[in-house]
Amino acid sequence: MDRRSFIKNTLIVTGITLGGAILSKSVSSEKMENKKMKILVITGSPRKNGNSNTLAENFIKGAKEKGHNVVRFDSAFKNVHPCIACNKCGMNGDCVFNDDFKEVKDNIIDSDMVVFATPMYYFGISTQLKAVIDRFYSINGKIHTPKKSALIMTYADTSDKEAEPIIKHYETLLNYLGWQDVGQIIASGVWTEGSVNNTDYPKQAFDLGKSI
Ligand SMILES: Cc1cc2nc3c(=O)[nH]c(=O)nc-3n(C[C@H](O)[C@H](O)[C@H](O)COP(=O)(O)O)c2cc1C
Repeated sequence: MDRRSFIKNTLIVTGITLGGAILSKSVSSEKMENKKMKILVITGSPRKNGNSNTLAENFIKGAKEKGHNVVRFDSAFKNVHPCIACNKCGMNGDCVFNDDFKEVKDNIIDSDMVVFATPMYYFGISTQLKAVIDRFYSINGKIHTPKKSALIMTYADTSDKEAEPIIKHYETLLNYLGWQDVGQIIASGVWTEGSVNNTDYPKQAFDLGKSI
């Protein structure tokens, strides 16, 4: 399916006319302000005490202090089969795989906010997280709804340029879904497990959680 058809199909299943600006949908910040939200945090690192998981934990701590309900899905410790493009779901139906995606599916649909926390792997997000995102395909017709979103990403190098592909991917995904970015923690220069603890990023992640 080419991109044009992908978008067209989405418009059909979501009931949005082509005239309707799917890419311009945004969350009304006034409406969301002070509202107790359901936040889903999807992590992508296989390192339990790794850098992105540490930042995710700090974000969650801040968000919980603010009174939000937080659900966490650690994709690297779950069984989520990659999408095989069989299209049996029709972008809005049951997936042929009866795996752990079913644990997170309703949370993606219902949540007010989705946070993506990932290490950088060869300039992209981790395979584990990507497998979950690709399975959005089966609920594509249900998730073009106003949501907030945030990105947490950790990587060893310090070049801003190298972070651009992941940021661009995240922003393009949000634009497509009509979700609103409310913050990005891009943690550079962290290589070994736990090295992020020697930086200011955990505080930034906590503050972001608390600011939502
Ligand atoms: C398979 C693999 C690929 C990686 N690719 C990159 C990369 O392209 N650029 C980079 O700066 N660091 C890269 N790293 C380092 C990780 O991004 C870095 O250690 C990060 O802090 C890991 O996050 P985590 O502790 O949450 O897993 C890679 C590490 C692994 C294991």
